[in-house]
Amino acid sequence: MTVHFIGAGPGAPDLLTLRGRDLIAASSVCLYAGSLIPPALLDHCPPGARIVNTAPLSLDQIVEAIANAHADGHDVARLHSGDLSIWSAMGEQLRRLRALGIPFTVTPGVPAFAATAATLEAELTLPGLAQSVVLTRTSGRASAMPDRETLPAFAATGATLAIHLSIHVLDRVVAELTPAYGGDCPVAIVWRASWPDERIIRATLATIVAAAAGGPERTALILVGPVLAPTDFAESSLYAAGYDRRFRPRSADSRFAGAGE
Ligand SMILES: C[S@@+](CC[C@H](N)C(=O)[O-])C[C@H]1O[C@@H](n2cnc3c(N)ncnc32)[C@H](O)[C@@H]1O
Repeated sequence: MTVHFIGAGPGAPDLLTLRGRDLIAASSVCLYAGSLIPPALLDHCPPGARIVNTAPLSLDQIVEAIANAHADGHDVARLHSGDLSIWSAMGEQLRRLRALGIPFTVTPGVPAFAATAATLEAELTLPGLAQSVVLTRTSGRASAMPDRETLPAFAATGATLAIHLSIHVLDRVVAELTPAYGGDCPVAIVWRASWPDERIIRATLATIVAAAAGGPERTALILVGPVLAPTDFAESSLYAAGYDRRFRPRSADSRFAGAGE
């Protein structure tokens, strides 16, 4: 048997990959991580599947459930919200499975920051404004931040910030970012991007705390940076008429002429 770690996407049931859907359908045990997994995804489980919400379980209990399924010869679909590469607790589970010799696969999912950008109809890397996106968070009870990964340090780069797990400390986020970005820097908050009750607020660092007052204190992404309200930005050279490139050589003298695919 195999444990399939599957990124379940940001909320909308149709933002699951086809591979993820097929693996869920082929696994007779499904472990899913609490309230951020849309219930409709569990409809892909085969009839009679054992479906377990792992939110109330400890890591030991989760690994025990996987080991029991393994011993009984069952494949397991292990669902985490968004993508597995960020804040999924997959790393610690894989370490245990490697130690136990239990095989696994990893299937990516649509991360919340991508769903949030789609909701905002925003490209987070606009030429001349920002060419990097920092996926970060503030310290929580479960995970402290490494000393050098501070909001002021990231802010000093001017990159677009996608701040997770921090809506409950919005005032602190704003205080730490304002010196570098300025009070007029655009900010957007999206709660539950892609869910039916998705909610959006756009403001600036100076106005966002008042604008978001009374909003939910969970499942929101805070995006910060000039790309969120661009008044002007350069066009990418990639599609410029005069830009010489492999797939569109500018002339017969181009170093790409005849290079084709
Ligand atoms: C434990 S992290 C999981 C991140 C996930 N692995 C991913 O790839 O996006 C949970 C945080 O992600 C963000 N998040 C997850 N789903 C979201 C959504 N649908 N809309 C907005 N933010 C979301 C929130 O900041 C939330 O506190």
